[in-house]
Amino acid sequence: MSLDREAPIGVFDSGVGGLTVAREIMRNLPQERIVYFGDTARVPYGSKSKETILRYSRQIIRFLRTQDVKAIVVACNTASALALEVVEQEFDIPIIGVIKPGAKVAVETTKNNRIGVIGTRATISSGLYPSLIAQRNPDISVFGCACPLFVPLVEEGWTKDPLTEEVARRYLKELQEKDVDTLILGCTHYPLLRSMIGRIMGSNVTLVNPAYETALALGRMLDAKGLRNTKDTCEEFPYRFYVSDAADRFKEFANSILPYDVEMTQQIRIEEY
Ligand code: DGL
Repeated sequence: MSLDREAPIGVFDSGVGGLTVAREIMRNLPQERIVYFGDTARVPYGSKSKETILRYSRQIIRFLRTQDVKAIVVACNTASALALEVVEQEFDIPIIGVIKPGAKVAVETTKNNRIGVIGTRATISSGLYPSLIAQRNPDISVFGCACPLFVPLVEEGWTKDPLTEEVARRYLKELQEKDVDTLILGCTHYPLLRSMIGRIMGSNVTLVNPAYETALALGRMLDAKGLRNTKDTCEEFPYRFYVSDAADRFKEFANSILPYDVEMTQQIRIEEY
């Protein structure tokens, strides 16, 4: 299959969270166009089974292919943990997830060989972060902690609220006691709590943001495959947004975090793909 360098990148997530990944792509690869899909009708993925997430991911990839994307970013940590390995084999298009880039940088960052990972229940119980870290360095100890309340709190806009801080202190206590010096923000929403989490963990703990690392890894992948867009885009709408439900709410959230004014979000029937 021949792929066009100027074709967009497909980015998908269970909902709005993956916009943190889209945001890093916009900042770090400004010449790339994006088609984003947020599965707002079926969010959250973090409490669902592997079979379900695989089925959803296949449908979304089929939809993104109809948009002639040149590569796909699985922006959702949960889908990267549970579906990426299978869909990579099934589809004839470059696909990258958020877990490998985050795990790689955490290994390069830790000095005391103690890494913490926070994410959804599904991501933490998949054990993928620890196993990728062990492949790179088996001497590193990895401590996982699911923080399921962070997603609704962020979506409520309570990123600076004392209640969220209280919840964060409770979740993170265990990791503080484990003396980790590196913490992976292993869920799309957590970079939006970065300053709070950083303050609680203290300045001796380095936070790894998989959204940022994925944008850089995507750039390397596009270079390796000769797919990086080198022309400045003069298109009026270089970024397009699709959802499976509640398009207006999505647009509002997107406009609160993106360095780009989202004017239109289109709802599609994802079950038909
Ligand atoms: N996008 C999901 C993730 O990064 C969080 C939200 C959800 O559970 O669907 O794991």
